[in-house]
Order: sequence, then C-alpha cells, then structure tokens
Amino acid sequence: MAIPQSFLDELKMSCDIGQVVSSYVQLRRSGRTSKGLCPFHSEKTPSFHVYHESQSFYCFGCGAGGDVISFIMRIENLGYIEALKFLAERAGIPFPEEERDDPGLRVKPLIYEINRAAAHYFHNILKSPAGEAGRRYLMGDRQLSAATVTKYGLGFAPQGWDNLRSYLRGKGYTDEQMLLASVVTRGRDGKSVYDTFRNRVVFPIIDLRKNVIGFGGRVMDDSKPKYLNSPDTPVFKKSRNLFSLNFAKNKADGTLILAEGYMDVIAMNQAGFENAVATLGTALTPEQARLMGTYCKEVVIAYDSDGPGRTATNRAVGLLDEAGVKTRVLDMKGAKDPDEFIKKFGRDRFRLLIDGARGATEYGLKAIREKYDLGDAAGKAGYLQEAADYLAGVPSAVEREIYAGKLAEETGVLPEVVRESVGRAARRAARRMEKKTAADLEAGRLGRMPGARPGDIAGDGVIGCLYHHPDWRAKIAAEVSPADFQSPDQRAVYETLLERQKTGECTVTELAGVLSQEQMNRLSGILARVSEGYYSISPEALADYIRRLGAEAQKKEIAAAGELDAGQYQALAEKIRREKQGKRRQGG
Ligand code: CTP
Ligand code: MN
Repeated sequence: MAIPQSFLDELKMSCDIGQVVSSYVQLRRSGRTSKGLCPFHSEKTPSFHVYHESQSFYCFGCGAGGDVISFIMRIENLGYIEALKFLAERAGIPFPEEERDDPGLRVKPLIYEINRAAAHYFHNILKSPAGEAGRRYLMGDRQLSAATVTKYGLGFAPQGWDNLRSYLRGKGYTDEQMLLASVVTRGRDGKSVYDTFRNRVVFPIIDLRKNVIGFGGRVMDDSKPKYLNSPDTPVFKKSRNLFSLNFAKNKADGTLILAEGYMDVIAMNQAGFENAVATLGTALTPEQARLMGTYCKEVVIAYDSDGPGRTATNRAVGLLDEAGVKTRVLDMKGAKDPDEFIKKFGRDRFRLLIDGARGATEYGLKAIREKYDLGDAAGKAGYLQEAADYLAGVPSAVEREIYAGKLAEETGVLPEVVRESVGRAARRAARRMEKKTAADLEAGRLGRMPGARPGDIAGDGVIGCLYHHPDWRAKIAAEVSPADFQSPDQRAVYETLLERQKTGECTVTELAGVLSQEQMNRLSGILARVSEGYYSISPEALADYIRRLGAEAQKKEIAAAGELDAGQYQALAEKIRREKQGKRRQGG
C-alpha cells in the first residue's frame, strides 16, 4: 500500500532513533554519536553506532545499518509495513487507512483524546468558581503564578464522584473508553464507575510529543495518599517518561536537573530553571537514565536532603553513570527540597547551589565516610581502604590527587601513604582500561572495511556526496553512470537516490521502504563513515571519487574485453575516455 508522505513525516518526527534504539540497546552518547553493544551480533566492545544527525545507525562489527524503521524491522523481525505500524503505535500516531478496522490500533489515540479532554476539563475548572480551593492551594500556599499554572496546564478535580465522568459522557465517551484511560475507576462492586481524581489539584503529565499521557493529583491537606498517579495505561509507562522533559529537553544545554517531585520541577521552572525533570512517583529507572543521556551530558541530582533522598541519590548516580551521564549532587542545607529552598532563599541562592553542586566523587566519598567511625583505628583503616579503591576508579588524575590529599588530612595518615595506595589501585584500574581501549581501537580499525577495493571506496564517496548534497545531483548524474559502480548494492543505492532526489527530500527514512536490507546496510555504512571522518565530503573529494571510480570502471571494461596487445589496449582506453567525455558534455 502507498504510505502517505505526511504520515512518514510525522513518524520521522516522533520516532527519534536514539530514543527508539535506547529501548533495546544501552547507548552511551558522546557528541553527535551514541555507541552501544550491537544487538545484531554478539560482541563485547561497542561497535554499534547511532548517528543522531542523520538519524541512522551502523554497526562497524557486522555491517548492519539503516534508519529507525530498518532497526525495528530487524530487531522485532517485522516487515516494512509492520514496522511502520509498530512505530506508529509506539508514538501514538494513527496508522493511515487501516486505523478504522483495527480496534487495537485505535486505543492509544482514543486515550490521548480522552486525556486531553480531561486535562482541559480540570484546567477550566481550576479557573472557574468551582476551582476556588485549587487556586487557593496552588497560587496561594504554593505561590505559583498564573503563567506557571497555564504553562503546566494545572487543574483541579472537584469533590464528588461523577464530575469528569459526566462531562466526558456528554462528549460521547463511554465508561469502557474512560476506563481505558483510567480517568475513571471501577468500584469494588464491579459495577459502579467513578472519577479517579477527586478533590485534588491535578498535574497533567505530558510526553515529548505533547500528548497528555497521565495525571498526578495532590490532596490539599494532610490526607493520604498525598499524591495519586494514573496507573500505567497503554499510553502511560511511568518507567519510560519524565515529568517536564517536554520543556526541559529544549533548555538542557548539556545539563538536566533531576528532582523528586512535580512541585520541585514546577517551582524550579518558575524560578527560571527550566531544565528540570522528575520521575513519575517511582524511583529512577535505567530507561529513564538512558533517556536523560540522550538530552544531556550531565545531570545535577536535586533530590530531597533526607535519608531516603540520599539513598535515591546514590542509586541515581549509579544508573546515570551506567548510561554514560556525568552527575553532580546538590547539597541542600536548610530546606528539604528544591521547592522549599527556592521559597526560603530565592532563586539566586539556588543558582549558586546548582553551580556549586559537587561532583559525584565528593558525594561518593562522603557516603563512604559515613559508614565508618573515624574515631577508631580500624574505622579509619577501613575508610582509607575503601576510599582509595573508590578514588582509583575516578577518571581524572587531578581529582584523584586532590581527594587523596583531603583523605590524608582527614585520617591523619601520611599523604605519601594515601597517594601510594590510591596509585596502586589506579594502576590496576588503568590496566583494565587499557585492555578495553585496545579492543575498542581494534573494533574501530575493523570499521575501515577490511579488503575494501578502491572502486568500492570511490563509489561510497560518490554516494555520500550525493546524499549530503542533493544540490550536486546534476553534476554527479552527468559524470557518474550507474554502471561505473562495482557492487550491485552501490549501484541500486545510487540509482534510487538519483531518482528520488528529483522529487524532493530523500533521507534514510524515505529509503527504508525502497531499499533492500543489504542496500540499507551499504548506505548506512557510508553515512557512518562520513560521520566518523573516514570519507570526506567536499567538491575536491567528489572530483577525486569520480576520477577513481572512472578509472576502476575503465580497468574493468578493459579486463572484460579479454586479452589485448599494447596497441589495442591503448586504443580501447582512448575510446572509453572519449565516450566518457562525450557523455559528460551531453549531461548537465
Ligand atoms: N509521590 C507519589 N505518591 C505519594 C507521595 C509522593 O507518587 N504518595 C511522588 C510524587 O511524584 C511526588 C514525589 O513523589 O511529586 C515527591 O514526593 P514528596 O517528596 O512527598 O512530595 P513533594 O514533591 O515535596 O510534594 P509537595 O511539595 O507537594 O509535598
Ligand atoms: Mn515538596
């Protein structure tokens, strides 16, 4: 079936390859590339690369490559259309045409619709006379401005069992449909159905595509439970989303702030710290850590300053570290959470707090210190030992040196002794790292296509130039004939690009439905090598690729002509040369 371009465009927008791949592969981001262990072959060092700019992936180990659709086709073992459906469902985009026939595919859009209607309802109530109590709480007690209330679409669920329900019924939704979205709840009797959120202020939870995926509701007094969150629904997965990431992702500038509560994030936003997110009533998950890693390099953890907050902080540091994200930890004194801190001390002091947040090293050492009684010798020795091991794992030599000094001071042990034991542990760690780096380099070298023939590389170069410079299309088309390419895959990719670029934009996503898996591998391999700097893209490089490709093609033609003597060879070479020139003049 023909897939409408508008659908493909929307899908492309909604399915970031980094995010989709992150559900399957643990990625570490550095700059415009993320790396991880290839899910398509077995390996110990990561040669699987995701290129965020071109929205493509390529494994230098096994040569698998493509766009987000080819990734899903491979990993879920689906055909092209199934993969589109799969991604559309994941993104909550209705699949064209068939949507009406398949109730399964309609569930998500329906839930989004109901959630949006519910959010509007709660928000309008908050602004109406019936929302008096909610307004008093949010804007009075919690000191939120009207702008903040609007920005977050905050709302109020009035007292009573049948407010939202009767509103939604009036819009034509059935109980069954409302139950799917969990905005209503079925009573224990199995019959009655009533509003899930009652007499609570409501925080809509919005995903990156601006869909309302669920709600959090807070009581306005000390009753329990303090917060009530939507349960997981087909569109709401608490472990995969973060509150306010829809705002924070555009303000990250390398750093995200991670807080515990909705109100912390909202208060931070109001104070100008818009790069803040929170989990959705659960502890941070590895998925969320990876998700954050796709938007920032560093996370400032701003959890509550109490005991549970500290435990949660350690956990978050570990998970973020695994996701390749640096961490700093806010050391809040005189307030229990960021919301309270900002209210008490103001935004400027909060800014200082953020800027002064120490690295996880200091925080980690503090956590170790707290385990030992430094007043006795055994405690001191234990602390020293564990701290030295810990410091050895710290990558920065400067940091190690500084903290070794502090450690000596703290324990009264000679600095040389501390340094020596950190040094020893560090050397052990370095040896481990060296081995790993050597293996990485090996994987990278293999990426340079062992046994690649010059014609292959020249052909790749031409395709790379054409892909990245549709504006060079006419020149390339005039000078390079599909027959010049050595490999059938290259030829097919080249012809397809030439054809498609006539009518418009042509990225890997448009090509996923057109190229075979092998051809997709080839194209992604080329894009990967361009990104890694193995192939350069410039008019000079293009001229060189074309020249080399021509020379290789000529050699092939001559070889195909069979045994020739020197004179015949010269004559044939001359003929081919003239033909080529003629073709070049004609084209353009
Ligand atoms: N939370 C929850 N259920 C509860 C209590 C808390 O889901 N019964 C979640 C909410 O997401 C809340 C976060 O944990 O935002 C932090 O809880 P807590 O520290 O108790 O609340 P604060 O954010 O400080 O909320 P407030 O300032 O409104 O008291
Ligand atoms: Mn609070």
